[in-house]
Parts: sequence; C-alpha cells; structure tokens
Amino acid sequence: MQSKPSTVRRIADKPFHIDREQVREAAKKLSDGAVTQGYKGNREEVVSMLNDALATELVCVLRYKRHYFTASGLENEPIKAEFLQHAMEEEGHANQIAERIVQLNGEPDFNPRRLSERSHADYDDSSDIKSMIRANLLAERIAIEAYRQMIERIGDDDPTTRHLLISIMAKEEEHANDMSDLLD
Ligand SMILES: [Fe+2]
Ligand SMILES: [Fe+2]
Repeated sequence: MQSKPSTVRRIADKPFHIDREQVREAAKKLSDGAVTQGYKGNREEVVSMLNDALATELVCVLRYKRHYFTASGLENEPIKAEFLQHAMEEEGHANQIAERIVQLNGEPDFNPRRLSERSHADYDDSSDIKSMIRANLLAERIAIEAYRQMIERIGDDDPTTRHLLISIMAKEEEHANDMSDLLD
C-alpha cells in the first residue's frame, strides 16, 4: 500500500519565515484592537453568527434555570443539580462568545427583545421532569448542529473563533449525553 504524502512533512520541508512587512503593518492600526489586516474571516458575518450563538446560549441559561427552579420532588434532586450545572456552563459560553464579539470589534447583542428570534434553540416551560429533559436534549442537539455548521463555515479563516466554537460544541455534546442518560 502506498502511503499518502504527509502535509505536515511538506510544510516542515519549506523553511518558515515571518512576513516582517505584514507584521509591521499589523503594529500600525492600533484602533483595530485585536483585528489585524491578516484576519481572513468575514468579520461582519462572524460577529452576526456569534450573536446568534450568544442568543442561543442565553436562552439555554433561562430554560435550564426555569427547569432547575420549578422541578420538584426529592427523587429529582440529582436532575435539578444537573440543570443548574448546565445553566452555569451555558452562561460561561455566553460570556466567552460576547468576549470574542468584542475582540472582533463587534457589539454583543444582549437585547432581551431579540433573544428568542435570534436563538437557534427554544425556551421551554414544561412542568413535568420528562418533558424538561426532552426539551433540553432537543435544544442541545440543535446547538450542536448549529455550532458544527458555524465551524464548517469559518474553516481556517478565523482560528481563534473556530477554536472557541469547537470547545463549546464539545461541551454541548456532553450536555446532550447527560440529558440522554437521564431520559433512559
Ligand atoms: Fe452552551
Ligand atoms: Fe448545552
């Protein structure tokens, strides 16, 4: 069997030199903050997709909090604890996303009136525990698929945002798995 030539090898074979002119250019426009002229992403599109993700995370915080506070019954305590933990983790995601939007010189959209229309996943106010778990599993699966599409779209154009979205998506996969375990 013929082995495929390794890309890593080919890149390593060429001596690497920093493009010093490009680097000096980057040092000039201080008003652009973290965005240098070499940034390859479509900044406005990335900010807009991040704002949709921000809305999704905030709606997820609200849904998990609603479930945490309204689920009752001693036997449901471990499930409530899981809801609370997820709520806190979704809030962490929202913070990370808002921070990235600002780094990209964008405006994080926290306007409550726009949250549910921007969010990919839905709010839920079910009163029985099974419906809560099911609604959360559904929302997590939606979030995973939305992140997957965003990561694909960004490709290699914005490695920092890509890296952030991959780490958040991995957490959503854990969340989906937690909810799926609870349903069994
Ligand atoms: Fe999240
Ligand atoms: Fe999640």
